Amino acid sequence: MIASLLPLDRARLPALRDFAVELAHAAGAVLQQHSRQGFATEAKGRRRELVTAADRAAEQVIVGGILQRFPEHGVLAEEGVLTAQGKITGDSEWTWIVDPLDGTTNFVHGLPFYSVAIALAYRRVPVVGVVHAPVLGHTYAAATGHGATRNGAPLHVSATGELADALLATGFAYNRNEPGRDDNTARLQRVLPHCRDLRRFGSAELDLCLVGAGAFDAYWELYLAPYDVAAGAVVVQEAGGRVTDLAGGDDWLFGGQVLASNGKLHDVMLQQLGGPPAG
Ligand code: IPD
Ligand code: CA
Ligand code: CA
Repeated sequence: MIASLLPLDRARLPALRDFAVELAHAAGAVLQQHSRQGFATEAKGRRRELVTAADRAAEQVIVGGILQRFPEHGVLAEEGVLTAQGKITGDSEWTWIVDPLDGTTNFVHGLPFYSVAIALAYRRVPVVGVVHAPVLGHTYAAATGHGATRNGAPLHVSATGELADALLATGFAYNRNEPGRDDNTARLQRVLPHCRDLRRFGSAELDLCLVGAGAFDAYWELYLAPYDVAAGAVVVQEAGGRVTDLAGGDDWLFGGQVLASNGKLHDVMLQQLGGPPAG
């Protein structure tokens, strides 16, 4: 049983990563089927924050598969189809962190930039990350100590050393115009004049993977949940990059703010972004 392997036995991680790849592919097929056949969409509290029947059906496949194989493990899944919504179940040292559809707005609007994200954390540190973008045909997979790949080919972050040559990415949270929230526009204004250009693609997990692939040199975002970042962060780290919160610390998984970079640009990005949000 995996849970009894203490301390972490890294040799076991590739098998867990491959299991996550299988689940992500199955969930990706469910998303594409819904995309072809049509799906119901509703707002999740905030009008702009959508959930569809596809999100729920994909989560059912992933979490059902995890609970069948590892009933003793914890699960933190966004939609709460088989588990408590957005909460870790149980008290296992192992927790699967699942976003069945990262980029729901893109999915609803017919854009191809969405993904299935599955991570496995050991003692709250993600050690396996899989992000699958079914329309793009890209599967990112990483396990601590075993590198990161896209469709099996090894990944490495970029070598860009100056912000003036950097392509950056960011995002804007659903709660951005609520009282006390930082809408990220001031940070955008601070960074934009100094970089090559900037993208907002709409799937945080894929943005992170694109840092791992060396396409983006850095990416940041505020008010994200663990399931928006856990899998992609392992890809960045295993591709040789760095992941922190906006203070340069380690609270990026549960702290709701993330900066991922090729490492070389990390300090200058921290400086330009100007620290964590007040609210
Ligand atoms: C969202 C996407 C988006 C980011 C949002 C996330 P969802 O996740 O990752 O890129 O800007 O903050 O909530 O809702 O599509 O799973
Ligand atoms: Ca998400
Ligand atoms: Ca989602």
